[in-house]
Amino acid sequence: MPQTIAVLDFGSQLTQVIARRIRECQVYSKIYHFATPAAKLREDGVVGIILSGGPQSVYAKTAPHPDPAIFELGVPVLGICYGVQLMGHFLGGKVALSKEREYGHGHLTIKQPGKLFAGLPRHLRIWNSHGDKLTKLPPGFKATAISENSPFAGIEDPKRRFYGIQFHPEVFHTERGVDMIRNFLVGICRARQDWTTKDFIAHAVADIRAKVGKGRVLLGLSGGVDSSVAAALLHKAIGKQLTCVFVDNGLLRKDERNYVEALYQRNFKIDLRVVDASKLFLRRLKGVTEPEQKRKIIGRTFVTVFEQSLKSIGHAEFLGQGTLYPDVIESVSIGNNPASLIKTHHNVGGLPERMKLKLIEPLRELFKDEVREVGAALGLPKEVVWRQPFPGPGLGVRVMGDITADKLEILRNADFVLQDEMMKSGFYWKVWQSFAVFLPVKTVGVFGDERTYDYVVALRIVESIDAMTADWAKLPYDLLQKISSRITNEVRGVSRVVLDISSKPPATIEWE
Ligand code: XMP
Repeated sequence: MPQTIAVLDFGSQLTQVIARRIRECQVYSKIYHFATPAAKLREDGVVGIILSGGPQSVYAKTAPHPDPAIFELGVPVLGICYGVQLMGHFLGGKVALSKEREYGHGHLTIKQPGKLFAGLPRHLRIWNSHGDKLTKLPPGFKATAISENSPFAGIEDPKRRFYGIQFHPEVFHTERGVDMIRNFLVGICRARQDWTTKDFIAHAVADIRAKVGKGRVLLGLSGGVDSSVAAALLHKAIGKQLTCVFVDNGLLRKDERNYVEALYQRNFKIDLRVVDASKLFLRRLKGVTEPEQKRKIIGRTFVTVFEQSLKSIGHAEFLGQGTLYPDVIESVSIGNNPASLIKTHHNVGGLPERMKLKLIEPLRELFKDEVREVGAALGLPKEVVWRQPFPGPGLGVRVMGDITADKLEILRNADFVLQDEMMKSGFYWKVWQSFAVFLPVKTVGVFGDERTYDYVVALRIVESIDAMTADWAKLPYDLLQKISSRITNEVRGVSRVVLDISSKPPATIEWE
């Protein structure tokens, strides 16, 4: 059993980010329900406790409170934001109610670094998000840092090894926040820094085995990073008890199906079932031009096909999914705020309930870069681990207007040329996404002595950090020229290539 840091979750959306920062320090942590009995934490060999932030006021009727005995365990405690107010509330300080939240950037001045702020500059930029505030220190505590809005931005009782910070060290906007967390873990809790990706895998494998037992797991494999890593991890854990289903929806890139088959069936020896449903998809999409409508049809058809395919594959108890932590947050925020739903995301929503499958999501706590590390450690090739994102509805949202087999063929061939040149030049790995878009516009051209009247293909090549914003990539002219002339020469049906130079916002990355 590794030394464990317990993160008690009081409902902040940032709790998983705290856990992620702890992993960055190569320390093992586990997120616990806020009311977990102190005895359980002792039993688990917890060497330090972090109290997360949370949206409530400590005085609210429904406020989540910890077992007060956690303060008697004799292990160090770090309260973050709501966590520090809990310390004030439980240890004899005072917390003032506030109607408004203090939100955004602030400045921290460290008065006495102590162990928590050891090695840090005196002035730091910090990020706040809190309503109530600590107004009187609990006995035994002293203030170690102040901010423009609080004389108690950092507090400590070094004797009992209790520490508190009013701001959020886990977010990127707080300067040197990770160092504060590391100081707590290593300098104060004396936690060992030996938790690596390999340990994560070993742990996940044990968890999966315990959960699945002799059961069977199905996984919809898309060929993208997330489902690929989930498949490799599940396969490592339960081997033949995993069956992957790859649905050919007729909206895939050129050679995609062969690639996926070769990789998983031949190399990984995964039980992979390929379902060719391209005709059904194209039939249902016939004449449909509205993007949201297309997405809905594709999503619904996927569920039907998946369900149908189970008849021949046989019963399973579990549905595996490559859900990552940002997906969890996104679906939460979408659920609470329908206005944030810009595009209907394509997933197998509703499927588990209907088919009475239990979900198994081994990547649920990880962020994308961590998933890539896990994938690489499991032996997935670079081409998979660093693959560009590809939307669930596939080429269906890259053929503008109504979708036909001919248009898809043109797009596939143009896109293939683009990817080929991006790979050869190495720019594939440097940009966020690069793809071709089919425009149902005919323009005049000349080919040899002949006049042509053919379609237009647009190149969409963007740089981005998280797909929330994006800018068009400034590729060298000679590379663009090569891509363009190869497409018009090699792809029948295209007489013109244009470059999309819109940023996001206001344009989105995909055209539909
Ligand atoms: P947009 O076009 O909204 O895309 O700027 C942002 C990122 O999301 C991908 N995308 C999708 N992925 N299903 C997906 O799984 C979808 O319906 C979908 N729409 C967009 C897009 O490729 C980009 O990376």
